[in-house]
Amino acid sequence: MSSSIDVAVIPGDGIGPEVVAEAVKVLQKVADDAGLGVSLTEYTLGAEHWLTTGETLPDETLAALRQHDAILFGAVGAAPGDTRIPSGLIERELLLKLRFSLDHYVNLRPSKLYPGVPSPLAAPGVVDFVVVREGTEGPYVGNGGALRTGTDQEIATEVSVNTAFGVQRVVKDAFRRAAQTERKKLSYVHKHNVLVHAGHLWKRTVEAVAADFPEVTVDYLHVDAATIFLVTDPARFDIIVTDNLFGDILTDLAAAITGGIGLAASGNINMDRSAPSMFEPVHGSAPDIAGQQKADPTAAVLSAALLLDHLGHPELAARIGRAVEQDIAGRSELGPRTTSQIGEAIIAALS
Ligand code: NAI
Ligand code: MG
Repeated sequence: MSSSIDVAVIPGDGIGPEVVAEAVKVLQKVADDAGLGVSLTEYTLGAEHWLTTGETLPDETLAALRQHDAILFGAVGAAPGDTRIPSGLIERELLLKLRFSLDHYVNLRPSKLYPGVPSPLAAPGVVDFVVVREGTEGPYVGNGGALRTGTDQEIATEVSVNTAFGVQRVVKDAFRRAAQTERKKLSYVHKHNVLVHAGHLWKRTVEAVAADFPEVTVDYLHVDAATIFLVTDPARFDIIVTDNLFGDILTDLAAAITGGIGLAASGNINMDRSAPSMFEPVHGSAPDIAGQQKADPTAAVLSAALLLDHLGHPELAARIGRAVEQDIAGRSELGPRTTSQIGEAIIAALS
C-alpha cells in the first residue's frame, strides 16, 4: 500500500467544521501511528461561501478536487428557514454536482447498533447491516421541469432515470459485498408492483446478477414493507440495495433505529476509482446546535474510517471502529461531552 494519502477536506457549514476537526485528528493519529503520511488540503465551500462569494462549485475547484485520493466532507446547508439561500441551490449545485461529476455510484451507508447505545426500538436484536444506495440516478438527476409555475395549471415533473448500466454496476457491487459477509444475504428494495418500468429493470438485473452469486440469498421487499421491517425486525437485514430516493429515506430510518444521526457514517464511492470518493456523516449542518460544541463527531470519525478502508487501509479503519465502539460503550455513565471531548476520548480509546 502507498505510504501516504492525499485527502481533500471540505468542512462546510454549521457543525461541519466542528465534526470534521475531530475526524481529522483521529485520522491523523492512526495514520501517524502506522507511519502513513497524510496530506490535507482544505476547501472552503458551502452555503456561507455562496453568501459571501456567489460560488457553489466552480469548475477549477472541481478539477482541483479530482487530484486528491479522497474527500472528507462535513455538511453543507443553511437553516431550513433561511430565506437568503434558494432551496435546493447548495444541494444541487454543490453536493449533487460532486456526487454526479465524480461518479459516486455507490452510496454506502452502514447501520450498526453499537452495544450501549439506546435504540428507540424495544427489542431491536442484533442490528448490523449496510445499505448500498444507488448514487447517480433515480429521481435525483434533475430530469424534470415546471410549466405555468405558480398558476392553478402548474405542471411539475421529476423523472426517475434508471439505466441498465447504472443499475447493473450498483447491484453487482451489492452482491460482491453480500458475498463477503457472514450471512451472505442481499435484500433489494423497490416498488416494482407500481413503478413497473424502473422496478422491472431492477428486478431483471438482480435476477441476472444473482446467477453469478449462488452463495448469496436474495430477498425482495417493496419499499413500504421495508420500512415496517426496519422497525419490527431490523436484524433480518445484511446488505440492502436500492435506488437513490428509497435509499435516502431508508437510511435516515436506519440511523434513527441505531441510536441517531450523530453516529451514521457514509461513503459516496466511485468503485472504478476514476475519481476520488467522498466520505461524510449522513447528517446535515445542524444549524440549531452549530458553533456550540454540542455535535457528536462520531459519524464524521466513522466516515474517516470508511475513507481509510477505501484507500486500502482496512486495519486502520478497524482500529478506529474499535475505539468508537469502546467510547460508545462507556457513554451511558458520562454526562454530556463537547464535540472535541468526544474526539479526544476516541483518540484515547485508540491505545
Ligand atoms: P440535520 O441533520 O442538520 O439536523 C437534524 C437534527 O439532528 C437537528 O436537530 C440537529 O441538531 C441534529 N443533529 C444532526 N447532526 C448531529 C450531530 N452530529 N450531533 C448531534 N445532533 C445532530 O438536518 P436538517 O436540520 O434537516 O438540515 C440542516 C441543513 O443541513 C439544511 O441546510 C440541509 O439542507 C443540510 N443537509 C446537508 C446534508 C449534507 O451536507 N450532506 C445532509 C442533510 C442535510
Ligand atoms: Mg438524506
